[in-house]
Amino acid sequence: MKAITVLPGKAGSIRLEERPGPSPDPGTLLVETLAPGVCGTDREIVSGAYGWAPPDSERMILGHESLGRVLEAPAGSGFSKGDRVVGIVRRRDPVPCVACDAGEWDMCRNGRYTERGIKARDGYGAEHFRLEPDYAVKIDASLGLAGVLLEPSTILAKAWDHIDRIGHRTRSWSPHTVLVAGAGPVGLLAALMGRQRGHDVHVLDRAEDGPKPELVRALGGTYHVDRLPQDFRPDIALECTGAAELVAELIKRAAVDGIVCLTGVSSSRPPLPFDFGRLNRNVVLGNIVVFGSVNANKAHYEAGAKALAKADRAWLAKLISRRVPLDRWHEAFEKKPGDIKVVVQFAGEERA
Ligand code: BGC
Repeated sequence: MKAITVLPGKAGSIRLEERPGPSPDPGTLLVETLAPGVCGTDREIVSGAYGWAPPDSERMILGHESLGRVLEAPAGSGFSKGDRVVGIVRRRDPVPCVACDAGEWDMCRNGRYTERGIKARDGYGAEHFRLEPDYAVKIDASLGLAGVLLEPSTILAKAWDHIDRIGHRTRSWSPHTVLVAGAGPVGLLAALMGRQRGHDVHVLDRAEDGPKPELVRALGGTYHVDRLPQDFRPDIALECTGAAELVAELIKRAAVDGIVCLTGVSSSRPPLPFDFGRLNRNVVLGNIVVFGSVNANKAHYEAGAKALAKADRAWLAKLISRRVPLDRWHEAFEKKPGDIKVVVQFAGEERA
């Protein structure tokens, strides 16, 4: 079978290669890949800055944002041939720690978790893969190619779940304004979920044109290019870019009793000049919570699937901005203007 593989830690090592198909394993689903998505983490792995190979191999099959069709399913697994599925990314650590033991592998305490296509496990970027039924999530076939948005939407389902839990530290919590930094797929899905909760959503991004401004407006949100009104103070802010300047800006701007959720992983850069004393003063005197959020557990996959099912299909379809045929797979890893979610089309004539 064809698979997109990398040598983790080595820039320029990505290639499409022939690999043996998945070995028989009667307890698992055999899945045919339709169109996996490419995200910033994949590009970081391709650049050699992130990623760990499986213990028995030098190279790793890339891809953690999956979309596939079940070819074989064990009897009694709850899945049948033809089902559309997405694979969960993380697997619990082998100890397991208390979090993984409770099914909350997204909160793994010892860092020994593994992640498909990222950390010590082959990913979903191959013509076929096997999936344990417990780590497979069925999705509505009517989503078409937009089903690949499930994995990124789980990141936001978790972020919103934790925002809600933190917000309820006070009985009077009644958030109104939400600021999302970044109008990539993660930011747009954050905005979608904010609107589904009935909030007044504002999205900040650098793009002046292309599809992003209209996508935000179509949600009923407000799009800001590069700067925000001076007195704008969001009750909830979600940082979805990893840009250090934006992290600082969001913490500075948070309203009293506000919550700032950081979802973007920053790369190490020269330090910013920053008045930590002033920041601390604002955070303490404003009862502001700043927290990080990564990955997602099964409950978040279920919540993400519900959010996508409720969303307007035409809006979701516009998030899939480019589908690259498998023979031109490398183009999927090149950034192009107007890109939101880029997928590699392995199989199927799926229409989003
Ligand atoms: C993935 C997460 C993963 C994280 C860190 C993200 O791109 O969506 O599932 O936990 O990278 O490896």
